[in-house]
Amino acid sequence: MTAVSDTLTPAPDVVLSTAFAADLDAADFRSEPLRRLWGDEADDALARGMREPILRAVAGDEGTLATLGRLLVLGMPQPREAVAAAIPRLGVDGLVALGLAHVEDDRVVPTSLLRPQSFVDADGIGEWWIASDLDEVALDGPLPAEHVLGVGGASRTLAEVIMPIEVDRALDLGTGCGIQALLVARHAGAVVATDVSRRALAYAELNAQLNGVTTIEFRLGSMFDPVAGEAFDLIVSNPPFVITPRAEGVPAYEYRDGGLVGDALVEQFIRTAPAHLTPGGVAQLLGNWESRAGRKELTGRAGLDRLTSWVPADLDLWVVQREELSPLGYAELWIRDGGTTPRDPAFTPMLNAWLDDFAERGVTAVGFGYILLRRPATDGVPLRRLERVGQSVSNVGSALRAGLAAHDLLVSGMPSTLVTAPDVTEARHLLPGDDDPSIIELRQGGGFGRTISVDPALAAFVGACDGELTVGQIAAALAQLFDVPLPDLWADIEPRIRQLVLDGFLAPAT
Ligand SMILES: C[S@@+](CC[C@H](N)C(=O)[O-])C[C@H]1O[C@@H](n2cnc3c(N)ncnc32)[C@H](O)[C@@H]1O
Repeated sequence: MTAVSDTLTPAPDVVLSTAFAADLDAADFRSEPLRRLWGDEADDALARGMREPILRAVAGDEGTLATLGRLLVLGMPQPREAVAAAIPRLGVDGLVALGLAHVEDDRVVPTSLLRPQSFVDADGIGEWWIASDLDEVALDGPLPAEHVLGVGGASRTLAEVIMPIEVDRALDLGTGCGIQALLVARHAGAVVATDVSRRALAYAELNAQLNGVTTIEFRLGSMFDPVAGEAFDLIVSNPPFVITPRAEGVPAYEYRDGGLVGDALVEQFIRTAPAHLTPGGVAQLLGNWESRAGRKELTGRAGLDRLTSWVPADLDLWVVQREELSPLGYAELWIRDGGTTPRDPAFTPMLNAWLDDFAERGVTAVGFGYILLRRPATDGVPLRRLERVGQSVSNVGSALRAGLAAHDLLVSGMPSTLVTAPDVTEARHLLPGDDDPSIIELRQGGGFGRTISVDPALAAFVGACDGELTVGQIAAALAQLFDVPLPDLWADIEPRIRQLVLDGFLAPAT
């Protein structure tokens, strides 16, 4: 069943891709029209691995959108005549020439998926057409090792995390279907997209053509080899960071497994990336990091500490750990991700291989999150920020950009005038019958959605930051109000005001 997608590689061709894009455009082959066609519930069910609800919703519909939906979104064979009518500019022969399908009798058999992917960035809402290999729903079974992934949860996470900054040159390492390269191309003069998989690069190039993006250069090779001696203003990567045991019977999926032991690939990336950053340049990646218990001569070390030790002291480092899994939870997650469930005979041997591998290194937990490295453009105190963020987040890229700007600002001193960010609210909790709150919380509506407890003096300070009164004026008024010497009050609240600026609760008044 997987043989066709194993051997077929897309054949990008700018003339054919342009014709295909015109057909897709004319058919309104986009997320919203498709969702309207088969309904919200069926659309959501597909994301959970069920295609039946969509098939039932469009049963008997031979129209263009339904035909393209079944063929390209679900990866199911369709009558040749209906496909020919749905893509008149490209034609069935063109689809075959692009390496996306073959013809069997009077049916067009897709060998790839092609889906609309909507995204939101600083420029607003947009949508790409993204081709990738048939997924496990279309294949009805586990994925082949050389599978080229479409846009998944991790791709979306990285896309949200990438800072919306204008740069000259960007690198997307491990581009896969090319989604991150397309995104950064919106803000970069030129992008280099690399991958160790020739098939992935073919998909990425085809996707750039389908979406009319001409500023991406595609290079084959492992890690930083294809860009030896080159530096970039922005490096992004959703690398193959998944920790995989090197044991017989455990598939090494090219799309998620870099072939090294434990989290060595993330370590290698972090140790190598700095040499490829321009002054002020930023690298952003997703990763896993192992916490290890002490064994024999080795002392145990938490994952975030190990990660920090890989970063040169003069670089800024900001790590956001989104979750931490036990070895068992981690193994189960990634075995299931490859399409193997506990009912499959292969599941238990794989689980044992994973747990043995973790035990070998004394792994007690695996952290997941995003890492930001920056080569500072000027001398200053490097940023070292390691945090665990469990709550839901939004506009992370903009929040990271603001956090870096706040760090740079504070290196040169406290701004004279501050203003409370517009998404900040205050909650006061009182014991029944009390007039004074026992807890005051400041809450952030966007970004990292932080909630912090503050005392009355700090709450009053934040409340007075209207962009007109200076920091000095507010502090003096509070010292009088609370009847404490100004130096004492300032020594108490100044570090916490700095933290509020770093966290985006307060911003310099413009
Ligand atoms: C998790 S996928 C990410 C794809 C895409 N960038 C995204 O965000 O959806 C990782 C990609 O890294 C590629 N890869 C695997 N090993 C690599 C290596 N040693 N050097 C560069 N890329 C590699 C895989 O082929 C795959 O396309």
